Order: sequence, then structure tokens, then C-alpha cells
Amino acid sequence: MADRRDFIKGSLVAASALAVGSVKIASAQVAPYTNIVYTADNLGKWEKKVGSHLPSITVEGNKVTLFTKHGMAEKHFIVRHTLVLADGTVVGAKTFTGTSAEARSSYELPTGYKGLIYGTSFCNLHDFWVNEHTV
Ligand SMILES: [Fe+2]
Repeated sequence: MADRRDFIKGSLVAASALAVGSVKIASAQVAPYTNIVYTADNLGKWEKKVGSHLPSITVEGNKVTLFTKHGMAEKHFIVRHTLVLADGTVVGAKTFTGTSAEARSSYELPTGYKGLIYGTSFCNLHDFWVNEHTV
């Protein structure tokens, strides 16, 4: 369990590091992260998993909803979502279990925030996924 926590923490740090300095995650600059961090443009070994692992980002006013269209079962589930601002600020996180109904989480952006946001989703079998959206 500690190893999983360390991996999740490391993954979040990696995602935050990508966000710092407005480095565009979907660019070729992530090539060193192939098969570590997965994005729509960097599917690596999980190419066939994108539809059920890349989190969708929906923005309504200052409310952001992340949703990962993934089944939730004891042995295979989405472990965690985070919403991260372009400067690496973590707006919030939600941890799920295999008994959670779905992998959906909502957050409130800081008042007046404009810029890139990153939604992350971690599957216990298919690793760390990041999507981005500009508000
Ligand atoms: Fe999965």
C-alpha cells in the first residue's frame, strides 16, 4: 500500500512539474514520459485504453467536473482524480475505491481563474492519465 501511495504522489508531482511553466503536456516535450504519463497525444502502451481512462473535463462557470468512463470493481478501478492549475496548484483531489459508483469528481476554480487546467486520473492497472482544458 505504501508503494502505491508513493507512486501516486510521484505521479502527481510529475504532472505538477509538467504544469509548471505552462509546459504543454500534449506536446512532443513529454516524450521522456512515454509509458509513464498518458495523454490523448501520448498513449504509449495503453493506446487501446484511452476511451476508458482519459478523464473528461467539463466546465460550467467556475465548476469543473472530471469523469473517467471506467468500470469500478474491487480488482480494477480508478483510484484518484486531481484537478491542477497551470502553475501546479492542486485545486482538489478525490480518492475512489472499487465500490465507488463511478469515477466522477467536481471542483471549484479560484474566482476569475483563466488559463490551462489539468485533470488527472489514476487507474490501479492502467496508470496515470492527464487531460487538459483551457478556461
Ligand atoms: Fe483501467
